[in-house]
Amino acid sequence: MLTRDLSLEMVRVTELAALSASFFVGLGDKEGGDKAAVDAMRHYLNRMYINGTVIIGEGEKDEAPMLYNQEKLGNGKGPEVDIAVDPVEGTTLLALGQPNAIATIALAEKGSMLDPGSSYYTKKLVVSHQAKDVIDIRKSATENLNAIAGAMGKSIHSLTVFVLNKPRHKALINEIRTAGARIIIHDHGDVWGALAAALPETDIDVLMGTGGTPEAIIAAAAIKALDGGMQCMFDPKTDEERDTLISEGKDLSQVYHLDDLIQSDDAFFAATGITGSSFLKGVHFKGGQIATTQSIVMRSKSGTIRYIDGIHNLNRKLGQLGFELPRVK
Ligand code: FBP
Repeated sequence: MLTRDLSLEMVRVTELAALSASFFVGLGDKEGGDKAAVDAMRHYLNRMYINGTVIIGEGEKDEAPMLYNQEKLGNGKGPEVDIAVDPVEGTTLLALGQPNAIATIALAEKGSMLDPGSSYYTKKLVVSHQAKDVIDIRKSATENLNAIAGAMGKSIHSLTVFVLNKPRHKALINEIRTAGARIIIHDHGDVWGALAAALPETDIDVLMGTGGTPEAIIAAAAIKALDGGMQCMFDPKTDEERDTLISEGKDLSQVYHLDDLIQSDDAFFAATGITGSSFLKGVHFKGGQIATTQSIVMRSKSGTIRYIDGIHNLNRKLGQLGFELPRVK
């Protein structure tokens, strides 16, 4: 069993990553912002009393600086854990200064996170607790929306679905419109979308469509803690990705449920807003070396969800951590 003290430590990781990346808001420099967050995460994680292995690192797709898969993190003195990171989820959102860029991390007992091999894209269906037992990703969007509306006691016209704005979703968007549900279309950020779908207090009820595979596994830690519903299927978009997955022994017809994505019931998820969003404020510099952050942290074992507002004295904090925020040219 992992220790509950990890919750606040996880928030410290995403806070430092968000503070660091926030110097790049709107600068048009995806890689600079990502690197700032990666450096901050690595720095803090290596102080933590864990014996961690990165199972889900991200970066290859953008040739970005990255925390590498199988990289060892932590001071080696604590529990053995699997780690999934997305230091900046929504690098383009950060670079363009648009809402919903977040710093995220998930952590679970060793050996419990799915290693997705070379899978790059995954089809996802996410809902809140009320509808978790009625979804079936093998069924059509229309069938799922009807079932979800029924389970939530809503008409289909009052359901709101998050879909990424990608050419691959043209048919899906048409189908959702024909079914009569409302759609919120975002260019990026389906970890944020998955959180929004599973958190009861947001105005999004469902996430549908295909996004990154690493993002699916990170989001799964949060959906577990929220006791929401999530199903996924690998969804290769090129022959090369398909062939590689098959050669790795992956069954492309397999439905991955939450317990396949993260087997352990003891998983943590934390996210800190970089740019603001409807349920997480972004980093704000107040002047006088004071900055504020807002984070969400959750643990699947207890099901506790916490929103944490941080007021940081940067001089003292960074001095104590031996970390420098990036110098932006
Ligand atoms: P990055 O932060 O790596 O840019 O990812 C943003 C994102 O929108 C994810 O939220 C999503 O899962 C993925 O990209 C979708 O990938 P693509 O833009 O290639 O369709």
